[in-house]
Amino acid sequence: MKTSVEADLCISCAVCTNMVPDVYEMNDDGLAETIVDVVPAELEEQVREAAAECPAEAILIEG
Ligand code: F3S
Repeated sequence: MKTSVEADLCISCAVCTNMVPDVYEMNDDGLAETIVDVVPAELEEQVREAAAECPAEAILIEG
């Protein structure tokens, strides 16, 4: 599984960076970004939950 954050949509609510800090991090612009190329299998469920919880629907999931 891969994931990314649509920077144009992110409103910096930090749900993703709090829920899955090993996958999402706030960048210098105050927007979330992905810090792994491939989501580790044990974090896939948390990534799906973060995507569902993101109020801006800014989290994309592939695969
Ligand atoms: Fe941004 Fe959504 Fe994360 S608004 S900080 S991508 S939970």
